[in-house]
Amino acid sequence: MAVDCDFLVLGSGLAGLNAGLRLAEHGRVVVVTKRGLFETATNNAQGGIAAVTSDADSTEAHVNDTLTAGAGLCREDVVRSIIADGANAIERLVSLGVKFDQTAGEYDLTREGGHSARRILHAKDLTGRELMRALTYHAAAQSNLTLLTDHIAVDLVTSRRIGRGSDDRCLGAYVLDSQSGNVITFRSKATLVATGGAGKTYLYTSNPDVATGGGVAMAFRAGAAIANMEFFQFHPTCLFHPQAKSFLISESLRGEGAVLRRKDGSRLMRGVHPLGDLAPRDIVARAIDQDLKRTGDDFVLLDMTHRDPAFVATRFPNIHTACLALGIDMTKMPIPVVPAAHYACGGIRTDATGATNLAGLWAAGETACTGLHGANRLASNSLLEAAVISERAARSMVEFATGAEEPPPIPEWDPGNAADPDEMVVVSHNWDELRRAMWNYVGIVRSDKRLERAARRINALREEIHEYYWNFKLTHNLVELRNIATVAQLIIASASHRRESRGLHYNTSTPETSDAWCHDTVAHRGINGTIVLDDGSPA
Ligand code: SIN
Repeated sequence: MAVDCDFLVLGSGLAGLNAGLRLAEHGRVVVVTKRGLFETATNNAQGGIAAVTSDADSTEAHVNDTLTAGAGLCREDVVRSIIADGANAIERLVSLGVKFDQTAGEYDLTREGGHSARRILHAKDLTGRELMRALTYHAAAQSNLTLLTDHIAVDLVTSRRIGRGSDDRCLGAYVLDSQSGNVITFRSKATLVATGGAGKTYLYTSNPDVATGGGVAMAFRAGAAIANMEFFQFHPTCLFHPQAKSFLISESLRGEGAVLRRKDGSRLMRGVHPLGDLAPRDIVARAIDQDLKRTGDDFVLLDMTHRDPAFVATRFPNIHTACLALGIDMTKMPIPVVPAAHYACGGIRTDATGATNLAGLWAAGETACTGLHGANRLASNSLLEAAVISERAARSMVEFATGAEEPPPIPEWDPGNAADPDEMVVVSHNWDELRRAMWNYVGIVRSDKRLERAARRINALREEIHEYYWNFKLTHNLVELRNIATVAQLIIASASHRRESRGLHYNTSTPETSDAWCHDTVAHRGINGTIVLDDGSPA
């Protein structure tokens, strides 16, 4: 089956839906999403969205905090332009009906690690859900926009792939309907990848199940540049409980006074960093990791018991209720927490409008690497980036589509000699092995030896997955497994390439930061799908 549209959007988080709504003002849009509409990282966002909206704050202060967290790798022009657009982005969201918390007619601003001022707008501890509520309401009402749930993009289609010209251009995507098992060919004038993050590459993550790095993997296979994949952010505080799956304990708890303690009650961040419990995330996550390894404990404690119980229950209803359901009353006892994979700072390399090096292809949100985050993302800057870049990407896509030639016809997906999958156990085993290897060898603290070991394991798995992929009928799980294997290889290759430690990348074999490495790590697809790394300058 083949479908034509003006604009194809992959992903239904903040970036995908906001761009989709803008694009629908100019043409027919299809938004494809892997599972349900709300199964996005945006929906899980607790903390909020960072923007300068108060007289007590300044753009300069937000820029400086972002640059400091980014440890020398932010693109300052991009940082300045995104932060300068922050107030407009908030206005746009409010115009869509998003209700941020207010006190006495002013936004109720909170704080998170690395921020020198209160500047984070939020809707209690359910900011993402509030964003999704407003965006999906408008998307459902927009007649020019078709929303397809349970559809997963398999691969981007390029003119080179189908043998139509040497000037490469993205022409759309092959998309698997997970219910029927059919692959649909989407042909579009311009395509936006907004597929979110890749936390599922690791065994422990705060991310939803859909975060399998599909955007990065597909863009890499299609020939787009991928940058800074070694910089994977680990959130310091995810709930430690056998029945809790991927549940985040927002950093805004620490913004409202919570402190990290060891099991013996001593303060963990005392003397580690001048900002104490609100130090940037890489510092806090590493401090916890070191402490757990030294003490042999399974978790540390996040203590908010000194705050008024009524305030805690009202300000953090989601976290309070989820903890209570597991027998943890956070107003009376500290919460057991551990670090977990949280955010990919690297991704598909774009300019400040979300355009990639492949004509016809844009990227926005966590799957993109615009240069805002550098080597470590400042908390709550990601929703800001998604809101600003999706707006710009939509404008740029409309301009491109207006001047561009009609895309040529795309051949239908060739299922080859695919037989029904009869060995799904192999898929789930590979999935588990890969995530465990990444957690053990490519986590918060790395070494050359561990990276080499990880590379050997993942390469062997990749070969097995490749064989499986071409011999059996495509399934949702298989598409995701293939993608996380590609993402894992990109992370390992980028981490092994960087001969220093910086921001989120800490390698005990090269513990110093070096001026010689103050640049992006850029990966391209080489012959036969190999990864080629170069020391690229800004796109
Ligand atoms: C949090 O609420 O701690 C997460 C916010 C973020 O990752 O930006």
